[in-house]
Amino acid sequence: MSQIIVDTNLCKKDGVCVAVCPSGALTLGIDGFPEELQETLCILCGHCVAVCPNDALTHTGLPQEAFLPASKELPAPAVIDGFLNSRRSVREFKNQSVARETLEALLDVARRAPTASNSQKLHWIVVGGGEKVRALSAEAVNWMRESGTSSAMLEQWDSGYDFILRGAPTVVVACAPEDYGFGKQDCSIALTFLELAAEARGLGVCWAGYLTRVAAVHAPLRQALSVPEGYTVCGGLMLGEPKYKYRLVPPRKPLSVQWL
Ligand SMILES: Cc1cc2nc3c(=O)[nH]c(=O)nc-3n(C[C@H](O)[C@H](O)[C@H](O)COP(=O)(O)O)c2cc1C
Repeated sequence: MSQIIVDTNLCKKDGVCVAVCPSGALTLGIDGFPEELQETLCILCGHCVAVCPNDALTHTGLPQEAFLPASKELPAPAVIDGFLNSRRSVREFKNQSVARETLEALLDVARRAPTASNSQKLHWIVVGGGEKVRALSAEAVNWMRESGTSSAMLEQWDSGYDFILRGAPTVVVACAPEDYGFGKQDCSIALTFLELAAEARGLGVCWAGYLTRVAAVHAPLRQALSVPEGYTVCGGLMLGEPKYKYRLVPPRKPLSVQWL
């Protein structure tokens, strides 16, 4: 049964929905109206409904009320570029938790990030509260001690500095099913969306690389995170109110590029 419902009073037979369908699930029928070729081809991306200039389509798998109005105005490129270039990895946080509503808003942005074939397979773990975050770091440090990691870092920990999660009040971890081929990519993109949405709200963010690496090899850390069975930790972010403001954008290596 077709998942798309065409309002033939509104449809102008322009074929825009067919043109944007990424999986070739739609075609124009002999009457000129769009129709679904094969239900199984549809990846539920919602583009057909979202693009229709005449509001002529609905999709039975995607409730109409769940569509949001698309942003009409583009921010000036200089504003976006300046925002992106001024983003910094923040490693000093105020002792202040991130509000639940803020975290929910950030996750709502992250879940809309592109995923391969619109698979939307990610699972999120939010760790809130300095003590819980420090317990994760302690578990990562346990593994580092056992595996003979550089003593300089462990000395930092022993002297009270958390070099794993930097005293952040909140950590957000993205997981993907172990057997899913695009887990790393989907998680990195979603975390980047979350990072930028957090920075737009004045929060400080830093990628939690140590945590991610140790979670891959140390089951007690995965248990401390309550990673669901069959999922793997693909990345994480530390989040909190930044203690300091950066005044300059530091230089980076020259671009390495080939123009073909
Ligand atoms: C995948 C990834 C993992 C990272 N892991 C850590 C980490 O565990 N701890 C940390 O302090 N910074 C971490 N960083 C931050 C980098 O050190 C930082 O991006 C780099 O020094 C450039 O600084 P900038 O982000 O302010 O431009 C990580 C960054 C990425 C992209």
